[in-house]
Amino acid sequence: SESSDEEEQVNDAEKMKNDSTQSSEERDVNADEQIQNSLSSTETTAEKPPASVLINKETSLNVTQQPLSEPAVFIPVDRTPKIQEARLQLPILAEEQVVMEAIKHNPVVVVCGETGSGKTTQVPQFLYEAGYASGNGIIGITEPRRVAAISMSQRVATEMNLSHRVVSYQIRYEGNTTEDTKIKFMTDGVLLKEVQRDFLLSKYKVIIIDEAHERSVYTDILIGLLSRIVPLREKKGQPMKLIIMSATLRVEDFIANKRLFPNPPPVVQVDARQFPVIVHFNKRTPLDDYAGETFRKVSKIHRMLPPGGILVFLTGQAEVHSMCRRLRRAFPYRPNSNIQEVDAASHDSVEATRKFKKAKPKPNLPKINLDNYSAMPADEGDEDREAGVDDEDEIASDLDLDLGDGDDCEEVEKSDPSIPLYVLPLFSLLAAEKQVKVFRPPPNGTRLCVIATNVAETSLTIPNIKYVVDCGKVKKRFYDKVTGVSSFKITWIAQASANQRAGRAGRTEPGHCYRLYSSAVFADFEKFSAAEITRRPVDDLVLQMKDLNIEKVINFPFPTSPSRESLIAAEKLLISLGALEEPPKHGRFKELEQAKLTCLITPLGRAMASFPVAPRYAKMLALSKQHDCMPYAIIIVSAMTVRELFEQIDRPAVNDEETEKLRRKKARISQMQWIWAGQGPSLKLGDIMVMLGAVGASEYVGCTPEFCRANGLRHKAMVEIRRLRSQLTNVDEPVFIHPNSVLFKHLPEFVVYQEIVETSKMYMKGLTVIEAEWIPLLLPQYSHFGKPLDTPPPRYCPETGWVKCHQKSTFFRVGWQLPAV
Ligand code: CDP
Ligand code: MG
Repeated sequence: SESSDEEEQVNDAEKMKNDSTQSSEERDVNADEQIQNSLSSTETTAEKPPASVLINKETSLNVTQQPLSEPAVFIPVDRTPKIQEARLQLPILAEEQVVMEAIKHNPVVVVCGETGSGKTTQVPQFLYEAGYASGNGIIGITEPRRVAAISMSQRVATEMNLSHRVVSYQIRYEGNTTEDTKIKFMTDGVLLKEVQRDFLLSKYKVIIIDEAHERSVYTDILIGLLSRIVPLREKKGQPMKLIIMSATLRVEDFIANKRLFPNPPPVVQVDARQFPVIVHFNKRTPLDDYAGETFRKVSKIHRMLPPGGILVFLTGQAEVHSMCRRLRRAFPYRPNSNIQEVDAASHDSVEATRKFKKAKPKPNLPKINLDNYSAMPADEGDEDREAGVDDEDEIASDLDLDLGDGDDCEEVEKSDPSIPLYVLPLFSLLAAEKQVKVFRPPPNGTRLCVIATNVAETSLTIPNIKYVVDCGKVKKRFYDKVTGVSSFKITWIAQASANQRAGRAGRTEPGHCYRLYSSAVFADFEKFSAAEITRRPVDDLVLQMKDLNIEKVINFPFPTSPSRESLIAAEKLLISLGALEEPPKHGRFKELEQAKLTCLITPLGRAMASFPVAPRYAKMLALSKQHDCMPYAIIIVSAMTVRELFEQIDRPAVNDEETEKLRRKKARISQMQWIWAGQGPSLKLGDIMVMLGAVGASEYVGCTPEFCRANGLRHKAMVEIRRLRSQLTNVDEPVFIHPNSVLFKHLPEFVVYQEIVETSKMYMKGLTVIEAEWIPLLLPQYSHFGKPLDTPPPRYCPETGWVKCHQKSTFFRVGWQLPAV
C-alpha cells in the first residue's frame, strides 16, 4: 500500500511509544524533580522579544569581531583529494569559522542555509574535527525522514573516510550504531524515545536538529525539551550544544520565543549559491490527472530541451512507481544496449513522428528541427501515446510556454531527444542502496530523471538537476476532529514549498521549473505550511507528554504553542477517560484550571499512550482486550474513521424505489455480522453494529467490488477500512523467515516468532512451528471466527506473534503486543 514520508515519521514515534518500557520510578527522583521544575518554571511574558542576532559574513558582529579562538582540539580527518575538492565548492565551507565560533560561544545556535549548501553533511564534520566527539561524546543529528538519516550517514562516512561503525544511523527498526559510533544520524522519533530513557541525553555532546523548518510535531517537541535539557546539562557541569538547522530563514518561532530560549540564539546564515531558475506555470490547472500531465511534461522536456537532469515531484510511493514504469516504457534504457538499438523506431514511434510532423507549429514559435524527432523513442501503451503527439494545441501552447524565448531556440536544435531516459524513483521507504543511485552520475548517453516524493524538497540534494516538474501536490496527514484518527490526503503545497522545489533546479547551473498549475492557483496557496502542532487536536500529544512525565503540559515551551483552550480541553478529556488522575476536589474542572493542569498519568493512561489512535479509541482498544473483543473494536475504530460506508440513502433527489432498495441492502448487511462473527461478544443493535456487520461480511468474501455493489457498500471505503485495520493490528507489511533460520526452506504454515528485525526485509527471528489445531486448544478466545480451517482464516487474529503462512515464504503478522493494563 501507498506510504508517504509523513507516515513514516509517525511510525517512528509510534514505535517510540511502544518501546518505552521504562517507568518513571526507575529514574532518578531528583533528576525528575529538576526536570519538572525546569519544564514548568517559565511563564509567558508579555515582553516584546528582542531582535535576533543575525550572523553572516557582513554582520557577524558578536562573534567574529572577537579575536578568533583556537580550536581546543583538532581531530584530523583523512579525506580523499576528490572529496576535499567537492567540499570546497559548498557554501557552508566558507562559513566554517563563523559557524564554529558561534557554537563555541553559545549553547544554542541556529544555522540557516539553502538546501544543498552543505548543512547536513558538513556541520557534523566541523564538530567532529573540533573535538566534540572525542572521549565519550557523540554528535547526534535528527532528521524527520528515514531516507535522510540513512543516506546522510553513508555520505558523511564516505566523505570522512570512516566506517559505518563510526558514522552510523538509527531509524525505527534498524540501525548500524556500535560502541564506536561518534556521529549518529537518526529520526526525530528515535531521539524522543531516547529522551524517555535518559532525559539528559548524557551521551551526546551535541544535538543537531535538522530540517527544523518542516516543523514536524516531534521536531517541535524535541526543541522544547532540549531548550530545558541544555541548561540542565550546563548546571551538571556536562555542557551540551544544540544546533537547529533550517533550510529557510523563517526561524522566528525558535529565536524570538522568550519562553523557549530566554537568550535568543544567534542565527548563522549561509549564503545561497543559487543560479536563476525560470518558473513556468501551466496555463490551465489539471483537475485530477496531474500524473498524466506530469508524464506529458517530462516527455516534452526530454524530447525538446538540452541535456540536464529532471526532477519530478509527486505525492506518494505508488505514484512514483507508476510514473517510473510509464517513463521507462516510453524512453527505455537498457544497460548493455547501444543507443542505436534504443532508437530502432517501432511502429508506434513512426506513427508518433508522422502525427507530430503533421502538427504545424504556430507561426510565432521558434524554429524546431523536426528531423531530431524522427529518432524519438517510442511511446508505448495507449494511455502514454498522447504525449506530445495528439493534441496540436497542447504542443503549441507548451512550446510557447517553455521555449517562447528566442534564445532557447538554438538550444532546442542542439538537444538530442534520442537519448534514453535513466529513470530512478526516490521516496523514504526505498531501500538504501537504491536511494543512493540518485547521487551518482547517470550512465553515459542517458538523461537522469528522478521521480520523487517531497523527500527531495529539502532533505536531499540531487546533483545536476536542470529541470524540475512540480505537480503542486503533497500528501499530508490530516486529523479527524471527531475521531482524532489521522488519514492521508493529497492537497496543494504551500508557496514556500513550491519555491523550495523550484530551487532544486538551480544548484549547478541556471534551470527551469515547470509548475503543473496556473499562477492563479499558486497565488491561492498558503504562504507557509503551518506548524503541524497547530493543525491538529492535542489530546494524544498531551497523553504522550504525560507519559514522558511532563506534568504541566501547559507550561511546556512549545516553539509554537497549541492554544490554552485546546490544552485544557485535552486534559479534561483525558481525565474523563481515566488516562489522567482526577485533580484535587474530585474533578471539578474549575479547580483543574486553577491547579494549572498538573494531573498525573494513570496506568490505564500509560497503556493508552501506546496505541497509535486518539485517546478515546485507545481506551476502547485497551478495554476491548480485557473483554476479548479486540478484533471488533479495531474494526469499529477503523470504520468510524472512514464513516461513509454506504452509498448515500438520504439524498433527497433519489426516488423512493431506489431508496427502498438501498435500505433493504443495508438491513441485509446488518444481519451478516452473525455469519461472520460467529459467537462474538453479545452485540447491541445500532449504527455501529451495522458498520461492524458490513466490514465483517465484506471481509468474509474478500472485499470484492461486486460484493460491495450488490450490498450498497462503497468499495473505496471498505478498502480504506482494511488499510486502517491493518495499520492498527500491525499487519501493514508481510514478514519473512530469515535465511539463517533452520526453517528457511521448510515453509511451515503457522509459526510463532520472538521478534521482527528489519534489514533488507522484515525478518522474523526465534521461530517455532505450531500446528493450526493448537490455536483453538491453547487460545480458545481467538478461535471464534466460525469457519473451518480449510477456508482462508482471517488475517487479523489478534495474538502476538502468530503468523499465517501466505504464498510460500511470505507471512503476514497477525499480532500486536499489548501492554498490561
Ligand atoms: O543539508 P543541505 O541541504 O544544506 O546540504 P547537504 O545535504 O549537506 O548536501 C551538500 C552537497 O552534498 C549537495 O551538493 C549534495 O548533492 C551532495 N551530496 C552528495 O553528493 N551525495 C550524498 N549522498 C549527499 C549529498
Ligand atoms: Mg540538509
